[in-house]
Amino acid sequence: MAVQKITIAIDGYSSCGKSTLAKSLASRLDYKYVDTGAMYRAATLFCMRNELIDDNGANENAIIKILDDINLSFIQDDLTNASSIHLNGENVETQIREMDVSNRVSQISTIVEIRKKMVQLQQKMGKEKGVVMEGRDIGTVVFPDAELKLFMTADMETRVMRRYNEMREKKIEVSMDEVRDNVNSRDYEDTHRKESPLVQADDAIILDNTNLNLEQQLQKAIDLAKEKISLLQL
Ligand code: DC
Repeated sequence: MAVQKITIAIDGYSSCGKSTLAKSLASRLDYKYVDTGAMYRAATLFCMRNELIDDNGANENAIIKILDDINLSFIQDDLTNASSIHLNGENVETQIREMDVSNRVSQISTIVEIRKKMVQLQQKMGKEKGVVMEGRDIGTVVFPDAELKLFMTADMETRVMRRYNEMREKKIEVSMDEVRDNVNSRDYEDTHRKESPLVQADDAIILDNTNLNLEQQLQKAIDLAKEKISLLQL
Protein backbone atom coordinates (compact mmCIF):
# COMPACT_ATOMS: atom_id res chain seq x y z
CA MET A 1 0.00 0.00 0.00
CA ALA A 2 1.40 3.42 -0.96
CA VAL A 3 2.18 5.69 1.99
CA GLN A 4 -0.53 8.34 2.22
CA LYS A 5 0.52 11.97 2.15
CA ILE A 6 -0.68 14.71 4.43
CA THR A 7 -0.85 18.51 4.32
CA ILE A 8 1.41 20.35 6.75
CA ALA A 9 0.57 23.98 7.54
CA ILE A 10 3.20 26.10 9.29
CA ASP A 11 2.16 29.55 10.48
CA GLY A 12 3.72 32.08 12.79
CA TYR A 13 5.34 35.48 13.21
CA SER A 14 7.95 36.75 10.80
CA SER A 15 11.57 35.70 11.37
CA CYS A 16 10.68 32.68 13.50
CA GLY A 17 12.54 30.28 11.26
CA LYS A 18 9.41 28.99 9.51
CA SER A 19 11.10 28.80 6.11
CA THR A 20 14.16 26.97 7.37
CA LEU A 21 12.09 24.38 9.19
CA ALA A 22 9.50 24.02 6.43
CA LYS A 23 12.19 23.54 3.75
CA SER A 24 14.04 20.89 5.76
CA LEU A 25 10.83 19.11 6.69
CA ALA A 26 9.66 19.02 3.07
CA SER A 27 13.00 17.69 1.95
CA ARG A 28 13.06 14.93 4.62
CA LEU A 29 9.52 13.82 3.77
CA ASP A 30 10.03 14.31 0.04
CA TYR A 31 7.12 16.79 0.04
CA LYS A 32 6.61 19.98 -1.94
CA TYR A 33 7.61 23.20 -0.10
CA VAL A 34 5.65 26.42 -0.60
CA ASP A 35 6.79 29.77 0.85
CA THR A 36 3.61 31.87 0.69
CA GLY A 37 5.38 34.97 2.04
CA ALA A 38 7.45 34.96 -1.17
CA MET A 39 4.19 35.23 -3.13
CA TYR A 40 3.05 38.34 -1.23
CA ARG A 41 6.56 39.77 -1.57
CA ALA A 42 6.63 39.18 -5.33
CA ALA A 43 3.21 40.83 -5.70
CA THR A 44 4.58 43.79 -3.71
CA LEU A 45 7.62 44.02 -5.98
CA PHE A 46 5.31 44.06 -9.01
CA CYS A 47 3.30 46.93 -7.50
CA MET A 48 6.46 48.86 -6.65
CA ARG A 49 7.85 48.47 -10.17
CA ASN A 50 4.57 49.70 -11.60
CA GLU A 51 4.39 52.64 -9.19
CA LEU A 52 1.22 51.37 -7.58
CA ILE A 53 2.65 51.75 -4.11
CA ASP A 54 4.92 54.38 -2.60
CA ASP A 55 5.53 56.18 0.69
CA ASN A 56 1.97 57.53 0.59
CA GLY A 57 0.43 54.05 0.42
CA ALA A 58 -0.97 51.58 -2.08
CA ASN A 59 -3.30 52.49 -4.94
CA GLU A 60 -5.80 49.73 -4.20
CA ASN A 61 -8.18 50.41 -7.09
CA ALA A 62 -5.38 50.33 -9.65
CA ILE A 63 -3.88 47.18 -8.08
CA ILE A 64 -7.19 45.34 -8.27
CA LYS A 65 -7.36 46.11 -12.00
CA ILE A 66 -3.95 44.62 -12.81
CA LEU A 67 -4.24 41.44 -10.71
CA ASP A 68 -4.23 39.24 -13.83
CA ASP A 69 -0.85 40.69 -14.84
CA ILE A 70 0.81 39.16 -11.76
CA ASN A 71 1.88 35.64 -12.71
CA LEU A 72 3.70 33.72 -10.03
CA SER A 73 5.38 30.34 -10.11
CA PHE A 74 7.97 28.42 -8.13
CA ILE A 75 10.78 26.84 -10.12
CA GLN A 76 12.98 24.15 -8.66
CA ASP A 77 16.72 24.24 -9.31
CA ASP A 78 17.66 20.58 -9.64
CA LEU A 79 21.30 21.27 -8.80
CA THR A 80 20.76 23.09 -5.50
CA ASN A 81 17.31 21.65 -4.82
CA ALA A 82 16.20 25.20 -3.93
CA SER A 83 12.95 26.59 -5.27
CA SER A 84 12.80 30.21 -6.42
CA ILE A 85 9.82 32.41 -7.00
CA HIS A 86 9.35 33.76 -10.52
CA LEU A 87 7.35 36.88 -11.29
CA ASN A 88 6.17 36.87 -14.90
CA GLY A 89 8.99 34.50 -15.77
CA GLU A 90 11.75 36.41 -13.95
CA ASN A 91 13.54 34.94 -10.95
CA VAL A 92 12.99 37.57 -8.21
CA GLU A 93 14.07 35.48 -5.22
CA THR A 94 16.83 37.99 -4.30
CA GLN A 95 14.93 41.24 -4.94
CA ILE A 96 11.94 40.25 -2.81
CA ARG A 97 14.14 39.94 0.31
CA GLU A 98 15.29 43.59 0.10
CA MET A 99 14.28 45.96 2.91
CA ASP A 100 12.13 48.18 0.68
CA VAL A 101 9.94 45.18 -0.19
CA SER A 102 9.82 44.07 3.47
CA ASN A 103 8.68 47.54 4.45
CA ARG A 104 5.79 47.58 1.95
CA VAL A 105 4.58 44.00 1.88
CA SER A 106 2.12 44.50 4.75
CA GLN A 107 0.22 47.11 2.74
CA ILE A 108 -0.18 44.72 -0.18
CA SER A 109 -1.05 41.69 1.93
CA THR A 110 -3.99 43.54 3.49
CA ILE A 111 -5.75 43.93 0.12
CA VAL A 112 -8.65 41.46 0.04
CA GLU A 113 -8.45 40.77 -3.71
CA ILE A 114 -4.71 40.08 -3.48
CA ARG A 115 -5.34 37.59 -0.65
CA LYS A 116 -8.10 35.88 -2.61
CA LYS A 117 -5.82 35.42 -5.60
CA MET A 118 -2.96 34.09 -3.46
CA VAL A 119 -5.18 31.70 -1.48
CA GLN A 120 -6.61 30.25 -4.71
CA LEU A 121 -3.12 29.68 -6.09
CA GLN A 122 -1.94 28.14 -2.82
CA GLN A 123 -4.92 25.76 -2.66
CA LYS A 124 -4.13 24.65 -6.22
CA MET A 125 -0.47 24.06 -5.35
CA GLY A 126 -1.38 21.90 -2.35
CA LYS A 127 -4.35 20.09 -3.79
CA GLU A 128 -2.53 16.74 -4.15
CA LYS A 129 -1.34 16.87 -0.49
CA GLY A 130 2.30 16.00 0.22
CA VAL A 131 3.00 19.66 0.85
CA VAL A 132 4.60 21.76 3.57
CA MET A 133 3.20 25.26 3.21
CA GLU A 134 4.25 28.14 5.44
CA GLY A 135 2.78 31.59 5.99
CA ARG A 136 0.31 33.36 8.26
CA ASP A 137 -3.10 31.92 7.36
CA ILE A 138 -2.32 28.44 6.09
CA GLY A 139 -3.89 26.48 8.95
CA THR A 140 -6.81 28.90 9.32
CA VAL A 141 -7.78 29.89 5.76
CA VAL A 142 -5.82 28.08 3.04
CA PHE A 143 -5.95 24.54 4.48
CA PRO A 144 -8.21 24.54 7.55
CA ASP A 145 -8.34 20.72 7.25
CA ALA A 146 -4.56 20.23 7.20
CA GLU A 147 -3.65 17.09 9.12
CA LEU A 148 -0.73 18.80 10.87
CA LYS A 149 -0.65 22.47 11.87
CA LEU A 150 2.34 24.05 13.56
CA PHE A 151 2.34 27.55 15.00
CA MET A 152 5.89 28.80 15.35
CA THR A 153 7.11 31.40 17.76
CA ALA A 154 10.36 32.62 19.35
CA ASP A 155 11.28 35.56 21.54
CA MET A 156 11.70 38.95 19.86
CA GLU A 157 15.46 39.45 20.26
CA THR A 158 16.15 35.96 18.92
CA ARG A 159 14.02 36.71 15.87
CA VAL A 160 15.67 40.10 15.26
CA MET A 161 19.13 38.55 15.49
CA ARG A 162 18.19 35.74 13.10
CA ARG A 163 16.75 38.09 10.48
CA TYR A 164 19.73 40.48 10.84
CA ASN A 165 22.25 37.65 10.30
CA GLU A 166 20.26 36.29 7.37
CA MET A 167 20.24 39.70 5.66
CA ARG A 168 23.94 40.28 6.31
CA GLU A 169 24.73 36.89 4.82
CA LYS A 170 22.86 37.98 1.72
CA LYS A 171 24.99 41.17 1.73
CA ILE A 172 21.94 43.37 2.36
CA GLU A 173 22.99 46.58 4.16
CA VAL A 174 20.80 46.98 7.23
CA SER A 175 21.08 47.95 10.90
CA MET A 176 19.78 45.94 13.84
CA ASP A 177 17.35 48.78 14.69
CA GLU A 178 15.90 48.77 11.18
CA VAL A 179 15.36 45.03 11.39
CA ARG A 180 13.72 45.35 14.84
CA ASP A 181 11.38 48.11 13.62
CA ASN A 182 10.42 46.05 10.60
CA VAL A 183 9.78 42.86 12.59
CA ASN A 184 7.74 44.80 15.16
CA SER A 185 5.61 46.59 12.63
CA ARG A 186 4.99 43.42 10.59
CA ASP A 187 3.88 41.62 13.77
CA TYR A 188 1.44 44.42 14.40
CA GLU A 189 0.15 44.48 10.81
CA ASP A 190 -0.06 40.68 10.59
CA THR A 191 -2.11 40.34 13.76
CA HIS A 192 -4.32 43.41 13.34
CA ARG A 193 -5.38 43.31 9.69
CA LYS A 194 -9.07 42.79 9.00
CA GLU A 195 -8.68 40.08 6.37
CA SER A 196 -7.17 36.77 7.59
CA PRO A 197 -5.07 38.12 10.47
CA LEU A 198 -2.36 35.92 11.92
CA VAL A 199 -4.02 33.81 14.62
CA GLN A 200 -3.18 30.42 15.96
CA ALA A 201 -5.61 27.78 14.68
CA ASP A 202 -7.40 25.99 17.53
CA ASP A 203 -5.87 22.68 16.52
CA ALA A 204 -2.34 23.99 15.89
CA ILE A 205 0.60 22.78 17.94
CA ILE A 206 2.86 25.55 19.25
CA LEU A 207 6.54 25.23 18.44
CA ASP A 208 8.63 27.77 20.35
CA ASN A 209 12.12 27.48 18.93
CA THR A 210 13.90 30.15 20.99
CA ASN A 211 16.15 27.49 22.51
CA LEU A 212 16.00 24.80 19.86
CA ASN A 213 18.46 24.24 17.04
CA LEU A 214 17.24 23.23 13.60
CA GLU A 215 17.86 19.51 14.13
CA GLN A 216 15.80 19.57 17.37
CA GLN A 217 12.89 21.40 15.72
CA LEU A 218 13.05 19.13 12.72
CA GLN A 219 12.95 16.02 14.87
CA LYS A 220 9.85 17.29 16.68
CA ALA A 221 8.13 18.13 13.41
CA ILE A 222 9.03 14.79 11.82
CA ASP A 223 7.74 12.87 14.85
CA LEU A 224 4.44 14.78 14.69
CA ALA A 225 4.13 14.27 10.94
CA LYS A 226 4.83 10.54 11.22
CA GLU A 227 2.19 10.24 13.92
CA LYS A 228 -0.39 11.90 11.65
CA ILE A 229 0.66 9.82 8.64
CA SER A 230 0.42 6.59 10.61
CA LEU A 231 -3.10 7.52 11.73
CA LEU A 232 -4.09 7.59 8.05
CA GLN A 233 -2.75 4.07 7.48
CA LEU A 234 -4.97 2.56 10.19
O1 DC B 1 7.03 35.14 5.62
P1 DC B 1 7.48 36.50 5.10
O2 DC B 1 8.09 37.38 6.15
O3 DC B 1 8.35 36.39 3.90
O4 DC B 1 6.11 37.20 4.65
C1 DC B 1 6.10 38.48 4.07
C2 DC B 1 4.80 39.19 4.40
O5 DC B 1 3.72 38.58 3.71
C3 DC B 1 4.43 39.20 5.87
O6 DC B 1 4.75 40.44 6.45
C4 DC B 1 2.95 38.96 5.92
C5 DC B 1 2.57 38.52 4.54
N1 DC B 1 2.03 37.16 4.49
C6 DC B 1 0.67 37.01 4.64
O7 DC B 1 -0.03 38.00 4.86
N2 DC B 1 0.10 35.79 4.53
C7 DC B 1 0.86 34.70 4.29
N3 DC B 1 0.27 33.50 4.17
C8 DC B 1 2.25 34.83 4.16
C9 DC B 1 2.81 36.09 4.29
